[in-house]
Amino acid sequence: MEGAFRVEALAPHHDRASFASGVEPLDRYFRTQAGQDARKNVAAPFVLVLPDGAIAGYYTLSATGIGLSELPAQTTRKLPRYPLLPATLLGRLAVDLRYRGRGYGRLLLADALLRSLRSEIASFAVIVDAKDDGARRFYERESFLPFPDQPKRLFRPMADIAGLFDR
Ligand SMILES: CC(C)(COP(=O)(O)OP(=O)(O)OC[C@H]1O[C@@H](n2cnc3c(N)ncnc32)[C@H](O)[C@@H]1OP(=O)(O)O)[C@@H](O)C(=O)NCCC(=O)NCCS
Repeated sequence: MEGAFRVEALAPHHDRASFASGVEPLDRYFRTQAGQDARKNVAAPFVLVLPDGAIAGYYTLSATGIGLSELPAQTTRKLPRYPLLPATLLGRLAVDLRYRGRGYGRLLLADALLRSLRSEIASFAVIVDAKDDGARRFYERESFLPFPDQPKRLFRPMADIAGLFDR
């Protein structure tokens, strides 16, 4: 991985116009909607900024809920019978085509997991919706587990994420 870079909250000075992940809905969202979502407190977008100011990738985090019955029985066995569990939604994650295969996707995911873990609001797991089989494999390699009846929706328990980082 090259030089110094940083991951920070999306701000007006970031150049969003040239971002191109090759996935049109993800690009359109980033260019036209992400700023509004941040201002309206419905999603928190974060960007990976390279030393020259280029945006190499972004992701969004939001609060969500998971139905207890959606998770595998093995996962919920020892949990209280609340119908809805608090969770964190990694709603979108994309790396610009120019910067693929350099570890930035994994880095953005690790950053998202760390921010989710550091929140003082309880969250049982981080949830992702993989848009296709490639994305699903990407998350499976990062130890995400599929929901039993929704193979493109995956989760990673916060207790497992905590084990990744020294606190
Ligand atoms: C998925 C995505 C974020 C990965 O970004 P990236 O910077 O190219 O990924 P990295 O370089 O960090 O790769 C991390 C690991 O995932 C693997 N990987 C990356 N993309 C993958 C894919 N589509 N399918 C399977 N594995 C993948 C890499 O081979 C690498 O594993 P390795 O270190 O063992 O070789 C990027 O391909 C992307 O933006 N895709 C379009 C949008 C998308 O699918 N987003 C996912 C959420 S819907």
